[in-house]
Amino acid sequence: MIQTLPPSPAKPASPGSSLSLYAELAGSLQSLIDQGTLRPGHRVPSVRMMSRQRGVSIATVLQAYTVLENRGYLEARPQSGYYVRPRPPSFAPEPRMARPMAKPAYVGVKDLTTAIMERAADGDFIPFGAACPHHSLFPNKKLARLLGSVARRDPTLISRHGMNWGYEPLTREISRRYLQGGVPLAHDELVVTIGCSEALNLCLRAVTKPGDTVAIETPAYFGFLEMIESLNLRALEIPTCSRAGICLDELREAIEQNDVKAVLVMPNFHNPLGSLMPDEKKQRLFDLLCEYDLPAIEDDIYADTHCGDCRPKPLKAWDRDGRVMLCSSFGKTLAPSFRIGWTAPGRYLERVRRLKFTNTMGTPVVLQKTIAEFLRDGGYDHHLRTLRRAYQQQLHQFAQAMQRYFPEGTRYSRPQGGNVIWVEFPAKVDTLKLHHEALKHRINTAPGALFSVKDRYRNCLRMSCGLPWSDEIDAALKTLGELVKKQL
Ligand SMILES: Cc1ncc(COP(=O)(O)O)c(C=O)c1O
Repeated sequence: MIQTLPPSPAKPASPGSSLSLYAELAGSLQSLIDQGTLRPGHRVPSVRMMSRQRGVSIATVLQAYTVLENRGYLEARPQSGYYVRPRPPSFAPEPRMARPMAKPAYVGVKDLTTAIMERAADGDFIPFGAACPHHSLFPNKKLARLLGSVARRDPTLISRHGMNWGYEPLTREISRRYLQGGVPLAHDELVVTIGCSEALNLCLRAVTKPGDTVAIETPAYFGFLEMIESLNLRALEIPTCSRAGICLDELREAIEQNDVKAVLVMPNFHNPLGSLMPDEKKQRLFDLLCEYDLPAIEDDIYADTHCGDCRPKPLKAWDRDGRVMLCSSFGKTLAPSFRIGWTAPGRYLERVRRLKFTNTMGTPVVLQKTIAEFLRDGGYDHHLRTLRRAYQQQLHQFAQAMQRYFPEGTRYSRPQGGNVIWVEFPAKVDTLKLHHEALKHRINTAPGALFSVKDRYRNCLRMSCGLPWSDEIDAALKTLGELVKKQL
């Protein structure tokens, strides 16, 4: 059914108003959806009809519809038009923040992490465990053609010794993108690495020595915990809010009471919470780092997967004195197996370069050049728009299905980017037990215990939503829900 709209024509933006026409149109449609005038499943007027109705250009309507798609209000259905998207009930509560940790602790490696990662690559299992996006979300064929063409044009790239801090056309492309986003980073401030993992590793090593304490968010990505363990560091877990990131009061207290040497944070789309730290809080976090003269290692790997209109700025944007070591990669957005990442380690640049030399010496140039050409020719932005839409849609579909199948009293984070949702079941549920039960149904999960040094989050689960929706996923979520309900 096509919904006819109440007569509220989009007026030309009033003089002095900073809102553009498309933003006004998007805003007015959004209000109609919020008020329930336009309801889930309803088809909104076609672009042409809306353009006539509101007296604005087709391009304006298209832009407004795209904004609403990005915000999760509309969905485009091929050859059919734009529809109001079902929205998850807003009453589902959000996860609670953990209690602070009294003392830093060494990390015990959990064999389960390796098993979960191995199963992530096993097509026999439904991969809810690892945060690996499905291969269909990447421009594999385009990249394969480009890789072939790059290698054919200059086969010596394959035999050249890859001793480099970064292939300059790539570092220039990366720095150009930061500049566009309001972060002035020169290309020669960057070191290209083997994935974000190497970037994080080098940065940790640059500012700590074995036995030192690193403050981290809790829950924390299990890769951070493994890294901290492998470097014989101690982790100090700081309570983190599922909406706005690390709690600054708790961080301050922890720094005052412990000899913290560095802070490892994910202000943009934290894994596993999906939280996004507001800009004003990033400023306060930076001020706190200055006050205690501490370096920060920032993992920004999910920033390009924002649900909102703009890519959020990294903490690095507030860095005045080179204490923020920004780390990222194309692993979640373009080509996970190319393993191309980078760091902008600020004042620690020389130290990180030396560590890169001893760690892996260089990063394959043929892969760097392929990505540089993909970025340069504009394919990346187009691809990112499609990817973001897919991630959002998947987050939305997973959230809806979980609320349908999981027991009452379950809490869910509301990620504003990325592709994971943090789920807190009622206290009685044991997600380690659930993990083993689910394996019998060929479902791989990531139990909460993996995300902490302490024995926390026994009743929590990180749900990876990196898979395009299918009946199989729906059925697997239903099965998980039944297994959880059996425990209650
Ligand atoms: C938060 C976070 N940081 C870093 C990584 C590792 O990134 P890469 O594959 O680029 O090494 C991951 C991978 O899942 C991740 O989730």
